[in-house]
Amino acid sequence: MTLKEAARAVRKNAHAPYSNFQVGAALRTAAGNVYVGCNVENVAYPEGTCAEAGAIAAMVAAGERELAEVYVVADSPAPVPPCGGCRQKLKEFGAGAVKVTMGTLEGVEQETTIGDLLPGAFDVGHMARS
Ligand code: THU
Repeated sequence: MTLKEAARAVRKNAHAPYSNFQVGAALRTAAGNVYVGCNVENVAYPEGTCAEAGAIAAMVAAGERELAEVYVVADSPAPVPPCGGCRQKLKEFGAGAVKVTMGTLEGVEQETTIGDLLPGAFDVGHMARS
């Protein structure tokens, strides 16, 4: 199964009764394994947790921490870019050159990288004097 197929499949499991906007994410790690996530909303925090965050959590829970590629899909008029918080999460586990593809259900795709999604990112080097 490709990352695209995995993201499209998991998107159908999204729990998004407040936004009605279902998102699926799939990532491949440096070790070659695939992890998936969908957005999960709740009544107290209707923005919920993002699909990308879910896929990253699954990866970390499985004992992996190195992203190799990411795919995000939603039923939107144009490819949906990861939110600010997810950009920082992607940056935590992936090099700047890691490819992130955003897709629509119709198959329109836009490719970017973690580095381009979060230029000037805060990282551990900024805490070097602490
Ligand atoms: N969402 C994601 O899961 N990923 C994104 O990249 C953008 C937004 C979700 C969060 C929330 O459940 C819904 O989309 C509306 O913001």
